[in-house]
Amino acid sequence: MIFYFSGTGNSEWVAKKVADKIDDKAVDIISLDLAELNAEQKIVAEKYIGFVFPVYAWGVPEPMLDFVKNLKGANEQTTAFTFGICTCGEDAGAAMKKLSKIYPLCSAYSIAMPNNYVIGSELESDEVVLNKIKSAEGEIDKISAEISEGKKQYRVHVGSLAAVKSGMINKVFNRFARSTSSFWVEKDKCISCISCAKNCPSKAIELENGNPVWKKGNCYQCLRCINSCPSKAIQYGKKTVCGKRYNIAKYV
Ligand SMILES: Cc1cc2nc3c(=O)[nH]c(=O)nc-3n(C[C@H](O)[C@H](O)[C@H](O)COP(=O)(O)O)c2cc1C
Ligand code: SF4
Ligand code: SF4
Repeated sequence: MIFYFSGTGNSEWVAKKVADKIDDKAVDIISLDLAELNAEQKIVAEKYIGFVFPVYAWGVPEPMLDFVKNLKGANEQTTAFTFGICTCGEDAGAAMKKLSKIYPLCSAYSIAMPNNYVIGSELESDEVVLNKIKSAEGEIDKISAEISEGKKQYRVHVGSLAAVKSGMINKVFNRFARSTSSFWVEKDKCISCISCAKNCPSKAIELENGNPVWKKGNCYQCLRCINSCPSKAIQYGKKTVCGKRYNIAKYV
């Protein structure tokens, strides 16, 4: 079974492609009943146990870390081939190393995918996005073949200063950068489709007269809300008014 977390679709797309190629199933951890999975010990009989997720500030997103920490009946009892695949715009830092300390992994990979960090960096051109997706397809074929063969691999683009980025900078990100206070909505653009509130993985969005309102705390910073609003009505401070957004659905 392949467990995935995804904000804007990159990791979901990777998880589903790999699952298809190794004849397995990809499951979104947000809609999964972990208590039931643990109680039934379904994981013990699995042939593969995989984790697929985006890199956030050179680390593993909190929902995936929590999920892996609480997944029972796997470490000691299973004979499954375990693997982790992170998707990132560029560098994964020490994210996979940290994950494999919590959960022993036979293989770990990173795949460069389009950058979705619309609130803090320039999004890539359509040409770059399409090239990244094309290269990723080749890498997915290779990874899937290696997993099927049970070949152990560590192919992760770590990048520079990984210890500092995945250590101190990641801590600062989780402590201070996951606030919802900079999100706001352009009410004249909002069509009250409610998809932002319905699809927020951390349930951090409520609706007030048909418009989103962000609760304090508990935001994963997945950027699904701002990137996927059909009217581009969601903004983050002043940085995002240019209107560029990213979601893989536009490209695949
Ligand atoms: C909060 C946040 C932090 C990110 N940090 C990194 C990073 O440290 N390194 C990197 O290469 N990409 C980083 N990215 C880019 C994403 O990892 C990348 O676009 C990923 O494929 C998105 O996956 P998803 O569509 O499954 O959410 C970051 C994105 C977000 C939203
Ligand atoms: S997704 Fe966009 S249009 Fe839909 S309710 Fe949210 S802000 Fe409004
Ligand atoms: S509020 Fe937006 S960025 Fe935060 S978890 Fe929900 S969808 Fe993701």
